[in-house]
Amino acid sequence: MTDKWFPRKSQYAVGVMDQSTGSDFLVLDPTDAPPRARSAWLAVRIRAAIGAGALTRGARLPSSRLLAADLGFARGTVVAAYQELTDAGWLSSQIGAGTVVSHPGPSTINAPPTGWATESAPGSATGSATGSATESPLAYPSPPGRVRLNLTPGRPDLAFMPRGPWLRATQQAMRSLAHEDFMYPDPQGDLCLREEIAAMLHRTRGMAVEAGHVIITAGVSQATALLFEVLRRGGASDLAVEDPGSRGLHNHVRHWGLTAQPIPVDDEGLIAECLGTEAGVLLTPAHQFPTGVVLSPRRRQHVIRWARSTGAVIIEDDYDAEHRYDRAPVSALHGLAPDCTAYVGTVSKTIAPGLRLGWLIPPVDRLPQLVAHKDASDRGSPILPQRALAMLLRSGQVTSHLRRVKTRQRQRRDALLDGMHSTPHDATIHGVAAGLHLLVTLPEHVDDLRIAEELAERDILVEALSLHRIRPGHPGLVIGYAANTPDELRDAGRVIADVLSRA
Ligand SMILES: Cc1ncc(COP(=O)(O)O)c(C=O)c1O
Repeated sequence: MTDKWFPRKSQYAVGVMDQSTGSDFLVLDPTDAPPRARSAWLAVRIRAAIGAGALTRGARLPSSRLLAADLGFARGTVVAAYQELTDAGWLSSQIGAGTVVSHPGPSTINAPPTGWATESAPGSATGSATGSATESPLAYPSPPGRVRLNLTPGRPDLAFMPRGPWLRATQQAMRSLAHEDFMYPDPQGDLCLREEIAAMLHRTRGMAVEAGHVIITAGVSQATALLFEVLRRGGASDLAVEDPGSRGLHNHVRHWGLTAQPIPVDDEGLIAECLGTEAGVLLTPAHQFPTGVVLSPRRRQHVIRWARSTGAVIIEDDYDAEHRYDRAPVSALHGLAPDCTAYVGTVSKTIAPGLRLGWLIPPVDRLPQLVAHKDASDRGSPILPQRALAMLLRSGQVTSHLRRVKTRQRQRRDALLDGMHSTPHDATIHGVAAGLHLLVTLPEHVDDLRIAEELAERDILVEALSLHRIRPGHPGLVIGYAANTPDELRDAGRVIADVLSRA
């Protein structure tokens, strides 16, 4: 190995070249970097390369001066990215030794901050500037050591994970499972868990579902991946998505070979009148991400009529419907049209994303094909966590956990709003009645990426609304409040209001 790195055409090979293979470990194309978020972009790219195993422990990075010169960035931009990764334990720097990778590598790397695929797929550490399916999207990294307050959306309070009940339920599951239960599990999912999910959905979401209709998955991510694969194999090329919508979901759709067709959202949710010839629509009717809007009854009917008349499938992502504070429950779209709706749910917001547990209730005629895909992809979800969750659901402990979580989150939301009380009048706060985040829309002339960067410099991480858009639209900030204390949120709210008042 050498410490050599060198510019190449419009791209720049950076890092260490493996002499035995001659391959570059990290390729950076500076034209890919958003002008106002270059440091965050660079940090994400380096972190993704470490995550994919392309840059290994001990690999030496070029000096900030040389890298900045080759990328055409200010030196401070590279210094800030290195510092961020050093503070978070990814890199270390010593006088005389330069900056080297200190992270032990992929096996110890945590999930990306927003919970959705925000970094390169393994083996594609470089991403691409062309927006291809394997593009590594930009996300603000969440270095625990540097940015004090991570208010990116989609983070539940992981310190509140009910470890004791999980431990006891796991022990109980281990004792009660028969020898034969440790053979390959039912690819559709543990029957005990499917029964509990069906009962819960009946109780909380007004859905008439039987255990035989439920497929247990590794979260919404796997449930939607299975659906996308079935659609693609059936010849579909386009899927309608909400715009703005979850950037992670948009990228997920593309990753699975479908084109994400943007459908605008207004204060009644997805503008269903804009749906066209797409094979399906992926939407968040109970709490639109990121606006927080509920899909109106009129629009629900329109989406259902569209799906029935065109043969399209409605994919209902019910990711956080349980988190309601000041508004009546909204029933699931699935209840109105089970014949054309595939409902997907998850424990990622109610308990923790790291559990990787979710469920899919497709239209009955699509069930066998989806179970076959699930079987082919992983031969079924692990039995032990499935049975433990079934026990927690049956004993009512999930419900009581959720009740406690909601009380906390309401206090946290109120603290954030309290801190933000001097937000300028031309900024509007939306989506406070439910969920784990709120949205602030900003006047047209404001650059939300720049505001997010300014806040990051003041130790507060939020997401720019423009990151979640396919077509240009109103700027804004998406701010999560579930994972921080009320005091932290009050402080963060004051800083946000201050930065906005000078925008
Ligand atoms: C809109 C949306 N849906 C679903 C999820 C959850 O996905 P999973 O269940 O795979 O963790 C997320 C996570 O952040 C999300 O933002």
